[in-house]
Amino acid sequence: MTAREAILALDLGTTVCKAVLFGQAGEVLASAERRLAMRRTGDGGAEQDPETWWSAATAAVRAAVAGVPQVSLAAIALCAQRETLVPVDERMRPLHDAMLWLDARGSDLAVRWRERYGPALQDWTGLVPGAPYSAGKIHWWKQHRPEVASRARWYLQPKDDLVYRLTGRVATDVTLAARTLLYNARVRAWQPELLADLGIEERQLPPVLAPDEWVGEVTRDAAEAWGIPPGTPVLLGGGDRPCEVLGCALAPGEVMESSGTTSNVAAVTRDPRPGHPAVSATPHVVPGQWVWELGLAGTGAGLEWLGAWVVEAPHGWADLDRRLSASRPGAGGLLALPFFLGARAPRWSPEAGGALVGLRGTQGSPDVVRAVAEGLAYELNAALGALRAAGVRVEAVRVTGGLARSSVWNRIKASVYRCPVRQGQVAYGAAFGAFLLTARRLGWPVDDKTARRWNPVVREYLPDPAWVRLYQTGYQVYEEVYRRLSPAFSALAAYRRLSEEASPHNPTNALNPDDGLC
Ligand SMILES: Nc1ncnc2c1ncn2[C@@H]1O[C@H](COP(=O)(O)OP(=O)(O)OP(=O)(O)O)[C@@H](O)[C@H]1O
Ligand SMILES: [Mg+2]
Repeated sequence: MTAREAILALDLGTTVCKAVLFGQAGEVLASAERRLAMRRTGDGGAEQDPETWWSAATAAVRAAVAGVPQVSLAAIALCAQRETLVPVDERMRPLHDAMLWLDARGSDLAVRWRERYGPALQDWTGLVPGAPYSAGKIHWWKQHRPEVASRARWYLQPKDDLVYRLTGRVATDVTLAARTLLYNARVRAWQPELLADLGIEERQLPPVLAPDEWVGEVTRDAAEAWGIPPGTPVLLGGGDRPCEVLGCALAPGEVMESSGTTSNVAAVTRDPRPGHPAVSATPHVVPGQWVWELGLAGTGAGLEWLGAWVVEAPHGWADLDRRLSASRPGAGGLLALPFFLGARAPRWSPEAGGALVGLRGTQGSPDVVRAVAEGLAYELNAALGALRAAGVRVEAVRVTGGLARSSVWNRIKASVYRCPVRQGQVAYGAAFGAFLLTARRLGWPVDDKTARRWNPVVREYLPDPAWVRLYQTGYQVYEEVYRRLSPAFSALAAYRRLSEEASPHNPTNALNPDDGLC
């Protein structure tokens, strides 16, 4: 019997690493997931041990390939979280834990650069300069860990690290380079002013290749670790978002909403200049195309934190729909600003904090969960509003990512967005996109129509007229609450820092008569 050909796609997300084996008809032959831990630091940081990228990938791949003995592996397809960065030394050893994309430390760089370079910064990089991106992480190490920065031979994003460990080659791709705030994707070059300003050399950043280039072959050691044949070709691939956009096989008038650890809304175009200050433009994994996108702060990450706190069920996701249904639309008048990890697009306020407004002593824990889920939908609606304002037709939203599995949240979003929310057949959107890119490169007959046939819409959630009326009011109140609370976020952040420094057990914090207490 001849073995079927397959492509192994790996999606190294922020909190879940997915390995998916796809067959020649785009079918999922096997899949496996492994969780990745992250650590929040008190000062707005979020870190990850880079060793877990390799160990989670290895465990997921071994579990996936073990399920399907009769395949011949044609290639490896890669995609991964973006912006997250690790500095490594000459021998490729990490000098510090990786700083995650959601790590807000280093945000002052974007503020300083916005003042110094004005509109040129967004024009060069395509990015709305409100978050640290990778450059902010280098800036933070330079300021706070100079011994790390002075020894850094390379700065690598998670997929760069995987590529090196798989093939022995150091390389990144344009879609990842474009998330550093250092790269000009339109002219395909690092922006020299920005490298000089940051005080780094181009040799510290990996060479930039196209996502559909073969980057190398799996080494003997890596093959042994993953339980796959050595010499298997590896396609460089791209960031998880553009791969998801490709994997969603968007029809005209559809935009993507991905919600996993975080959320992102995106549309495909051929124009690298959105002309809207809140919308970033980054290169697509498909040559000649661009992705207009807005990346929000933690969605799943916020819900997980809330889940652990309010309902004491850290990973009880099967429960989410039940809890959302146990409340009612509008959560009994409870409204949440879901900025548990600060606010990114479209507001760009790292100091923002979460808020629960409207507590009346009548609501219970399901209302809190529902209010946060509705707050996240409102925030996504604001991001979609910016895409619309940039001229994008938003007639329907294709959802992907772990949270797309929540049918109640999908129903809520259809009524908040006031357009259909569509769920595709393939649960692993990013891995599917990386697979499509690789299949095309292998010469498999895969065009846009094939992709749509392989990942058809299997569920459509339509706006419910009664919910639409309620959520229109809810969204107005949400924006009003944000507008009124946002002036207080800086003062609240200062208060939070004071509280973090204070320790009830620390004798130096004992009351002092000079404090002017009565
Ligand atoms: N059945 C489910 N219902 C609702 N939410 C779920 C379910 N399963 C997973 N999730 C949520 O999805 C998240 C994982 O989704 P996903 O695998 O897309 O994340 P990720 O790829 O690591 O994140 P990102 O792409 O943002 O880096 C979990 O953290 C959880 O919040
Ligand atoms: Mg993901």
